[in-house]
Amino acid sequence: MNSVVVAGSINMDVVTTADRHPKIGETVAGRKVLFLPGGKGANQAIAASRLGAPTTLIGCIGRDAFGGDLRSFLAATKIDLTFLRETADAGTGTAIITVAGGDNVIVVVPGANADVNADDVAAPPLAAGDIAVSQFEIPQPAIKAFFERARAAHATTILNPAPALPCDREFLNLADILILNETELGFFAGTNIGPADDPATIIAAARSLRSDSDQIICVTLGARGFIALTRGEAHIEPGRAITAVDTTGAGDCFVGAVAAQLAQGSSIREALHYANVAASICAQRLGAAPSMPSVDEIAAYL
Ligand code: RIB
Repeated sequence: MNSVVVAGSINMDVVTTADRHPKIGETVAGRKVLFLPGGKGANQAIAASRLGAPTTLIGCIGRDAFGGDLRSFLAATKIDLTFLRETADAGTGTAIITVAGGDNVIVVVPGANADVNADDVAAPPLAAGDIAVSQFEIPQPAIKAFFERARAAHATTILNPAPALPCDREFLNLADILILNETELGFFAGTNIGPADDPATIIAAARSLRSDSDQIICVTLGARGFIALTRGEAHIEPGRAITAVDTTGAGDCFVGAVAAQLAQGSSIREALHYANVAASICAQRLGAAPSMPSVDEIAAYL
């Protein structure tokens, strides 16, 4: 079996739940505050590891209480933390999240995640067939160095360009597989894409991003499922009917599940179908990293 290697962010998610989101300038009463492990990199690594792939996480945390808690949480998983670095120069990444009615708003303070650099991604082993995964919560030069190494090793690169940030088109071309949501697709395609847009519009925008006909692009659409371009063909799969409790981390679950499935030899179509089920389970629970499903839970649905 191949491995999944994730270079990405590790955050403490400070989650408040409320009956509704406040308007700008308004105060509303919340119900509870939770301190939950998160960060797109950690979430994706946890999903991949729980779903059976040997997984390594490359990242950086601060030498503070949140960093200690996150290290303890991660140490209780099977993830290889050899390349998890601590810095005294910045606090651990923190995300302030409000969840109301199943929807969330998030403000992320990168802290130590902004310290991840090309040296951090230089040492972890990468072999042919491994899956290298990253997102946009660590600096782009580190991601570029990571993906160039992965390409040289004949590993498969998966980029989840979230949150959407300006970058060169060549940068997106370093991804064998791009997984992004409709808002991010709109950002990179230079157009507005929203829940009201039909599949043809989404497919056209996705095609405009593709660097070559081999690049796979998957657009996750929340409750509407996903649309993927694989070898030029568009493939649409609807979302599973669920009552969402908290969608935080559901996209990360999708990415981690795709990586884990590919590492275990599944086809891209099989991996995407599996990830669609995984993400729907994640969205039915509060929190990101702790909500990643197990192999057995997904098997029950499949
Ligand atoms: O994708 C969800 C994640 O985004 C949260 O866990 C939060 O930490 C932010 O990074």
